[in-house]
Amino acid sequence: MQAQPLVIANWKMNGDRALIDQLVQTLHGQHATWQSTAVAVCPPATLLPALQVAVTATSIEIGAQTVNAAPSGAHTGELSAQLLLECGVKYVLVGHSERRQWYGCDDASAAAQVQACLAAGLTPVLCVGETQAEREQAQTVEVVTQQLQAVLKVLTAAQAQQLVIAYEPVWAIGTGLTATPAQAQAVHAEIRTVLLAKVGAAAQQMPLLYGGSVKADNAASLFAQADIDGGLIGGASLNPAEFLAICQAAG
Ligand code: PGA
Repeated sequence: MQAQPLVIANWKMNGDRALIDQLVQTLHGQHATWQSTAVAVCPPATLLPALQVAVTATSIEIGAQTVNAAPSGAHTGELSAQLLLECGVKYVLVGHSERRQWYGCDDASAAAQVQACLAAGLTPVLCVGETQAEREQAQTVEVVTQQLQAVLKVLTAAQAQQLVIAYEPVWAIGTGLTATPAQAQAVHAEIRTVLLAKVGAAAQQMPLLYGGSVKADNAASLFAQADIDGGLIGGASLNPAEFLAICQAAG
């Protein structure tokens, strides 16, 4: 059995209340066309309460873009898993390359964030991916495996099974350069092999998402790959019609 398709919108530091209403109306109005897919939206944290209201009585799930691993305390500006849970959050992006590049996230903090999410009953979406230079030096599999193992090593098999993994080549994020379906599938197959070694057959049901310049016109060919179970969508998720088309392509 394969994972249920999953498509997650990552708005980054974009969007507003009006866009929440537009996106929710567009998706909800067409629910019959994507009902076999799980869909979540990760808005900026200040918009989480508005999203929570807007998605009431819809099938749209709520996600957050990061979390602080600490349960509470003197962490000015940060948000704990418990605070996110209160906003109806289900999924939390962990280790997105922008967090790794500019906001001090490393493998150790990603592992701690994953543990905090799991302890709170949230589903972590662990983001992994190589830079252009690493790909050119044929280090893609090594880099992605290292990022993955750094987190898997602190988890039991039962915990690891609850992860969602997003493979996002750094060179493809926001650049308009997408990995070809074959390039993405090759890395996803490696990720699945690592997961199989950790959790056994349950790895087949763990959603492996591709992210990096996914658009309405390339989504179907990516999602058709054996080990690509959906997508993490940045820029295209800010356009409701385009995001709807991507959700439809995943089903
Ligand atoms: P993009 O972003 O779709 O704009 O490339 C993807 C992401 O960063 O999650």
